[in-house]
Amino acid sequence: MKKNVTVAVVGATGAVGETMLKILAERAFPVGELHVLASERSAGGKVDFAGRQYVVQDLATFDPAGVDIALFSAGGSVSKEYAPKFAAAGAVVIDNSSAFRYDDDVPLVVSEVNPDAARNRPRGIIANPNCSTMQMLAALAPIHREAGIERINVATYQSVSGTGRRALEELGRQTARMLNFQDPQPEVYPVQIAFNVIPHGGDFLENGYTTEEMKLVSETRKILGDDSIQVNATVVRVPVFYGHSEAVHIETREKISAARARELLASAPGVEVVDERAPGGYPTPVTHASGQDPVYVGRIREDISHPRGLALWVVADNIRKGAALNAVQLAELVIGE
Ligand code: A2P
Repeated sequence: MKKNVTVAVVGATGAVGETMLKILAERAFPVGELHVLASERSAGGKVDFAGRQYVVQDLATFDPAGVDIALFSAGGSVSKEYAPKFAAAGAVVIDNSSAFRYDDDVPLVVSEVNPDAARNRPRGIIANPNCSTMQMLAALAPIHREAGIERINVATYQSVSGTGRRALEELGRQTARMLNFQDPQPEVYPVQIAFNVIPHGGDFLENGYTTEEMKLVSETRKILGDDSIQVNATVVRVPVFYGHSEAVHIETREKISAARARELLASAPGVEVVDERAPGGYPTPVTHASGQDPVYVGRIREDISHPRGLALWVVADNIRKGAALNAVQLAELVIGE
């Protein structure tokens, strides 16, 4: 394993970037030099890493020469412009945006599901999947390997942290305003998010789905390497700060019992089964996932409406496993090569 790795975190002041730094320190990633980068707006400010303060540098004027690993989480347009420059300078880029996820020459990797794909990166870029796909596939991959998934019906219950720091602030501000009988004043979301649910993530497409819903379709097929898997998704934003939940209904080629699925999931890496069939015996964002690494799975049951159907409830911290943790796990794979 490589020691004294020069690491750049792009978007270091954001919700994901900040967690990337935290996780690098928690997992004792062998950081030699560290560069924390953001826009001109926050350049000159400071962020903390492993008890030390680092000055935020402006990405636009930063020279990437010498960087070994660059973790990008500053949005798609920033990745499109700067990730190839970092890769050309010799860095392996791990990109949390959707900019390169569907490119054939960029692997899309969930560390527990298709780690070998990370080795084949002709452009020096590895894409980190969307948070909802990430947790869903950590739970579904073991079942797919055993019984072959034909179809997935999923409804997500996504927390506001997935939208970024401003959305976290909006939920807090709106909650306070509503409790004081004041107008909610939506800014980040098109309608009030506090005490509400919004069936809309990303942009609307011709087919009536949204871009966030279609990510679940294409990313699932690419990561599992099976274009025949049918995916029908409804993405919903809910007034939760951290942790996405998903009601996942699958149809498999071979019948798989709930007991066998539970057994497979109990030994799956990165997955924890919480399935008591009693009040509180299931995972929720607040009681289980928030601030934690595993993907929690509960409510595992055979679908009474389909002979080869299975229903599951999947919850994970979208900022950790859904973004920052997987990115750091990919960096660990790269330095371990
Ligand atoms: P900045 O603090 O300078 O705006 P979030 O998703 O939580 O809103 O965070 C987005 C992250 O991406 C922040 O660190 C933000 O930095 C960074 N970012 C946004 N636009 C740019 C840009 N043009 N160049 C570099 N970093 C950017």
